[in-house]
Amino acid sequence: MPQLYNETPTVRKRKIVVQYWPPMNKKIKAKVVGATGYGGLGIIDLLLRHPCAEISALVAREDAGKRISDVYPHLAGFCDMPIHAADDPAVQGAYDVVFFSTPDRVGMADAKAELAKGAKVIDYSGDFRFTTLAAYQDYATRLGKDPQHLSPELLGTNVYGMPELHRAEIARANLVGNPGCFATSCILGLAPALKAHLVNPHGLVCDCKSGVSGAGKKAKPQFHYPERCEQINAYRLSGHQHVCEVERELGLQAGEDVTVIFTAQVLPISRGILSTLYGDLTQDVTEADVLDIYRKFYAESGFVRVLPSTAAVGTMSVRGTNFCDIVVSVDARTRKLRIVSIIDNLMKGQAGQALQNMNVMFGLPENTGLNQPGMYP
Ligand SMILES: NC(=O)c1ccc[n+]([C@@H]2O[C@H](COP(=O)([O-])OP(=O)(O)OC[C@H]3O[C@@H](n4cnc5c(N)ncnc54)[C@H](OP(=O)(O)O)[C@@H]3O)[C@@H](O)[C@H]2O)c1
Repeated sequence: MPQLYNETPTVRKRKIVVQYWPPMNKKIKAKVVGATGYGGLGIIDLLLRHPCAEISALVAREDAGKRISDVYPHLAGFCDMPIHAADDPAVQGAYDVVFFSTPDRVGMADAKAELAKGAKVIDYSGDFRFTTLAAYQDYATRLGKDPQHLSPELLGTNVYGMPELHRAEIARANLVGNPGCFATSCILGLAPALKAHLVNPHGLVCDCKSGVSGAGKKAKPQFHYPERCEQINAYRLSGHQHVCEVERELGLQAGEDVTVIFTAQVLPISRGILSTLYGDLTQDVTEADVLDIYRKFYAESGFVRVLPSTAAVGTMSVRGTNFCDIVVSVDARTRKLRIVSIIDNLMKGQAGQALQNMNVMFGLPENTGLNQPGMYP
């Protein structure tokens, strides 16, 4: 019999789970690259509370030599592990899982070596969100980055890490590209409508707003407090890099090409994404019909909560959680479907989804270590 762990089943009633990871008595050993950034900190925080995993190595450049609790004092007594440079012999061992919470082009350089040592790899950047070189190059070009992929031979072995849409492939994968944060909110918000051919697949509108932490930890002039605290701005109107993921994933659901107009905006809040999504209805439906379609689509996906238009939810409803709250409404007057899709960009948009992927890759219940209501207000 495998070792059983007693994570209290369960505050939420949806899934009562018994948790194990073979082999017996062995915890999943995790290495976090980019440990000092927001996504690295997020996965550290989650792994500390995970019953079947432990943090074995932390890697970053600037703070190498310090303890992680020197960089983030709130971790003192919970995680005081040293941070190592990537080439430090202390972090060249074999790990069960390696999280690359790093900018584009870091994971693509180093994932191969980790995979060769037997690790499963979860990369947060765009490096492994695309399974063909041409698709990667389209993405990189939009970002103004070098279109040459450093490990093109790995493309095709990777899986897009959105368990709600690719659960079975993720379970078999060794290499997962964690989705973009805006993309997560748009794809989860529109996938059921496209699958059911409820909306015209062209000209879908994605009006997306993010908290400032979406830009990561490093200080930049436009994120200086006086310029940030009372400002809302749109950016990258000429082509946001997440459009490629959104159109591909929604196209897979629709079975045909999909086009979206996508507007990314930054709000003066720390964390959270709220995307308002519009599509032209192809048929006369009521809100009750749409709720039914969405609830059936997500019947096996405990992290998606489908809500009626009267729901009083906002970014605070999902803060610090892996939930995606989807509010459904039908505007009969303009014959449009309107979906409000809300996530925490650092959780379902980043570290939470990465841990959800780890759970699926290791055969654990998907909500292991993630089953929490968050912090309100
Ligand atoms: N923030 C979000 O809401 C969000 C959501 C979804 C996905 N993402 C993606 O997640 C990844 C991490 O984002 P983040 O917001 O957590 O960024 P971040 O706060 O800036 O952290 C980046 C981390 O990577 C390290 N790093 C930077 N360049 C490196 C290099 N060349 N080699 C090794 N380590 C390097 C940094 O430390 P050193 O510079 O000291 O090495 C830091 O620890 C990015 O790919 C981002 O696009 C972010």
